[in-house]
Amino acid sequence: MSDISLTVNGKRVGGVTEDRTLLVHFLRENLGLTGTHVGCDTSQCGACVVHVDGKAVKSCTMLAVQASGSTIATIEGLADGAELHPVQAAFKEHHGLQCGFCTPGMIMTATDMINRHPEGLEEATVRAELEGNICRCTGYHNIVKAILAASETMAKGAAKGKARQAA
Ligand code: FES
Ligand code: FES
Repeated sequence: MSDISLTVNGKRVGGVTEDRTLLVHFLRENLGLTGTHVGCDTSQCGACVVHVDGKAVKSCTMLAVQASGSTIATIEGLADGAELHPVQAAFKEHHGLQCGFCTPGMIMTATDMINRHPEGLEEATVRAELEGNICRCTGYHNIVKAILAASETMAKGAAKGKARQAA
């Protein structure tokens, strides 16, 4: 057993956990953050993607003890109160989900992807970078559309911010 401490969605949390506990199970079972899904447990589907220190990580590939000291963001921490994050809003607007099972992982992967490409994204890049996320409803077309739209919105927002700073 190990005593771990981490920051999740801006809050310091901790707990005693078995050394073999996966991060995804710690998030879901110890912290009750069930928005992070388990689709395969074998690092294939991407339903469990969260951000660890700002990078998208499949939380079924990491032990909770390995995440001790890290800053984690899950789907529950993305919206700003009642205001959806631009990626969530784009998935809603462009029908980027059907059953919704893959959606938290898709959105966390997409957010990281957009953050790494602030200049904007090409469709081919989105499709290549989504390789690790599987949608069992096969709604990829609208997922890609949603990510491209969110990327555009966020790039425009960043440009406006810069213009305001320069003024
Ligand atoms: S549950 Fe982690 S990749 Fe499928
Ligand atoms: S929306 Fe059903 S698995 Fe992707």
